[in-house]
Amino acid sequence: MSKKAILTFDEKQYEMRIVEGSEGERAIDITELRAKTGLITLDQGYGNTGSCESAITFIDGEEGILRYRGIPIEDFETTPNFVEVAWLLIFGRLPTQKEYETFADELSEHAYLDENMRLHFESFPRTAPPMAILSAMINALSCFHPELHELETAASVEVAAARLISKIRTLAAYAYRHSQGQPVIYPDPALRYVPNFLHMMFSQPYKRYACSETVRNALNLILILHADHEQNCSTSTVRMVGSSQANLFASCAAGVCALWGPLHGGANVEVLRMLAQIHGGQITPKEYVELAKKKDKGARLMGFGHRVYKNFDPRAKMLGRIAGELLPQLGRHDPLLEIARGLEEIALEDPYFIERKLYPNVDFYSGIILRAIGIPIDMFTVMFAIGRLPGWIAQWWEQRQTQVNKIARPRQIYTGNTKSHYIPITERR
Ligand code: CMC
Repeated sequence: MSKKAILTFDEKQYEMRIVEGSEGERAIDITELRAKTGLITLDQGYGNTGSCESAITFIDGEEGILRYRGIPIEDFETTPNFVEVAWLLIFGRLPTQKEYETFADELSEHAYLDENMRLHFESFPRTAPPMAILSAMINALSCFHPELHELETAASVEVAAARLISKIRTLAAYAYRHSQGQPVIYPDPALRYVPNFLHMMFSQPYKRYACSETVRNALNLILILHADHEQNCSTSTVRMVGSSQANLFASCAAGVCALWGPLHGGANVEVLRMLAQIHGGQITPKEYVELAKKKDKGARLMGFGHRVYKNFDPRAKMLGRIAGELLPQLGRHDPLLEIARGLEEIALEDPYFIERKLYPNVDFYSGIILRAIGIPIDMFTVMFAIGRLPGWIAQWWEQRQTQVNKIARPRQIYTGNTKSHYIPITERR
């Protein structure tokens, strides 16, 4: 017999279907709640609301588990390959050698931007935030690819995904070069995804950037660990925008905007600022923790806490360890790593953080790795966006394919004025 939940309201009972996922999580299906009872649910921040059924990413926040299409993220560490993971997320299985090569070749082929698009960069002030440029330019891409506005088949999604995943990297690198007042470096089709990005970021007309295997692997892994995280704020935004049948470019541009905020992807910038403040002697780690506990002016320990993880974020665990291994390999010493470790230790022993189950999240150590690779702080959230793009595409495409392709349109409980009448301006006091 299928399981049901019973709601008692106004002395009547209503049965509601229980939906069960493949890993055993359960939800009450309230699709008919309002029609049957006149009630809606109120769940600010959507902490208890499932907005969709999805087969892409599984998180067990209590156990600290994250899997892409069933594969634990730890499995990707030995030979990290972001392009392979992107394909896996979007198409649901690991690509064959031939599928992988074809996709990787498409990424190389489509790294170029239309020359008119390159000119757009010149109109932005040097100080423009790269996330603003990225979002604007992803939207602008849709003007150059009207043929990709309607995507009906997996083959057409592959074409669009290859263009977007490839070009976001060129857009990001150009935004950086513009901020530095440096000439753009065109993509090199002989280079694969990560080395090509670093070439566009750091080569100079007189000196070519040489990407070491250590750096290539570290950046591949960072991008993989950001690649999807089920219904987070930016992904939900992409789905929300996509639900109106907006095209993939518009939906992903909206995702970039959502990611920008300091409670989401922007946290990686705030973590570095916080560590630098401590390093600069303006505040001690203990004082920072106390400030976050007092919630003074909304202060938080950045890079700590998560809506879903009530145990270690497995990404933070991996990134903390990798940061410790990478710095000596690159011959670097970064005092911010020791400060981060010290801060983590203080917080994890503090009853405030223990009671609230607040642990380091993906943003706590990622900035230290990005910094070691040479990525400037202003570009940290852009790196998150490059990593998250395959997840956005996968979720957008999954939504398009589902039978229940309804426009996302939550309701509200109205708390404003009851009926009142318009008063002409001359009669108002
Ligand atoms: N420092 C201090 N207190 C915190 C923190 C923190 N980082 N995070 C949560 N709390 C407290 C919060 O004040 C609340 O306390 P109380 O019960 O006394 O009111 C309690 O813990 C529960 O917090 P919440 O805000 O209800 O939790 P949430 O699930 O709505 O928020 C979060 C999750 C990630 C936005 C939040 O933990 C946070 O602001 N963390 C800092 C920003 C950050 O690192 N963001 C990156 C998130 S992971 C990657 C990503 O999604 O981009």
